Amino acid sequence: MADPFLSIQHVRKSFGATTVVEDFNLDVESGEFVSFLGPSGCGKTTVLRMVAGFEEPSAGKIVVSGKDITRLKPNQRNVGMVFQAYALFPNLTVAQNIGFGLKVVGMPRADIDARVAEMLGIIKLPQMADRYPYQLSGGQQQRIALARAIAPKPKLLLLDEPLSALDAKVRVSLREEIRSIQKKLGITTIFVTHDQEEALSISDRIAVMYGGKAEQVGTPFEIYNRPATKFVANFVGTLNVLEGTVTDPAAGTVRVNSEQISLQGKLNGSKSGDTLSLALRPEAISLGRQPGRDSSLSGEISEVHFLGSVIRVRVGIGGSTVSLDTFNSPATPPPAVGEKAEISFSSSDMLVLH
Ligand SMILES: Nc1ncnc2c1ncn2[C@@H]1O[C@H](COP(=O)(O)OP(=O)(O)OP(=O)(O)O)[C@@H](O)[C@H]1O
Ligand SMILES: [Mg+2]
Repeated sequence: MADPFLSIQHVRKSFGATTVVEDFNLDVESGEFVSFLGPSGCGKTTVLRMVAGFEEPSAGKIVVSGKDITRLKPNQRNVGMVFQAYALFPNLTVAQNIGFGLKVVGMPRADIDARVAEMLGIIKLPQMADRYPYQLSGGQQQRIALARAIAPKPKLLLLDEPLSALDAKVRVSLREEIRSIQKKLGITTIFVTHDQEEALSISDRIAVMYGGKAEQVGTPFEIYNRPATKFVANFVGTLNVLEGTVTDPAAGTVRVNSEQISLQGKLNGSKSGDTLSLALRPEAISLGRQPGRDSSLSGEISEVHFLGSVIRVRVGIGGSTVSLDTFNSPATPPPAVGEKAEISFSSSDMLVLH
C-alpha cells in the first residue's frame, strides 16, 4: 500500500495531570473522507486541533506526505478548518470572509476576486458576496465558513461538527453538499460528529472514539455490522441485547431464557457457565418463523406502534425486550399486545459483545 497522506502516530495529549487523548493512531489516504465519531468529551476536537496545529501533542507525531509536521505552526500546515460555532468575521462581507486567507498570503486582488467567485459558485451562493454574516441563515453561514476554509486550496480539510447548530433538514442537505464538494475537489477530510447517522451516511471510514482512544476504525459497513467492542456496538445504531449463558463452548451453544441457541464458532475463549451479552440489530430479526432463519426464541408482544409503512414491535423475552420492525400489509392485521410470539434470526447475525 502507498504511504498514507496523513499519519497520526501514537499521539497523546495531557492537560496538566489529565490525559484526554491516549495513544491515538490513524492513517488517512489521500482524498479520503474520515469521520471521528464519539460522545462528548472523548477527545475529537483535541485530536483535530493537534492535526491543525492549535494544540501540541504531549507525545507522538503527525506526518503529512511523509513530512513530520508535529511542531509546525498552523499557518505552515496547509490545513483548512471549519468550526462548530459560526466563526465568520462579523464586520467583513461574505466575499471578504472567503478571501481572507488569500489576502493574508498576499494573493493579487484580481486573483482573489476570481477565487471568491469560484467558491461562491461551488457553495451555490453566487448572489451573496456583499452581504454581512448577520444577514445570512445558519446554514448559509456554515457554507461561507466552508468556502473560506477551502479557498486557499488546503491539502487537508478539518471540520469540527460544522452542522451541529443547524436544524435537522438543513443538516442533512448540507452534509450531502459538503461530501459532494469534498469529492469534487478531492480534499482529504476529517469530519467530527457525534451523530452516528451523519457519520455512517457520508464517510469513507469512521474512527469511533471513546475515552481519548480510537475504539475501532473501519468503513461504515464494517463499523455497523462487525463492531469490535461493546461500546461501538451500542453507540452506532440500535441494538437489542440479550443475556445468554454458555452451555457448551465447543458446540457453540448458549441458553437464553431457558431456550437453547447455537452460535457456531463465536464462543472462542468462553467457558461453560459464562454469561454473555448477545446482540441483534432490529433488521436481523423477524416476527414468527421465517425460511432461512436458523434460530428462534419465544416471548410475548409488549408494545406495538403503527407508523404507517412500518410497524415497530417490541417483544419481551425473559427479562429483556427486543425491538423489530415489520412492514405494514393491508391484508394482515398487526400483532396485538399480550400475544405470544416467536422471533427468528440467523445465528450468523448475532453479535457476541466483549
Ligand atoms: N485546554 C484544555 N484544558 C484542559 N482540558 C481540556 C482542554 N481542552 C479540552 N480539555 C478536556 O479534554 C477532554 C476532551 O475534549 P474535546 O474537546 O476534545 O472533546 P470532544 O470529543 O470534542 O467533545 P464534544 O463532542 O463535546 O465537542 C474534555 O474532558 C475536555 O474538558
Ligand atoms: Mg468537540
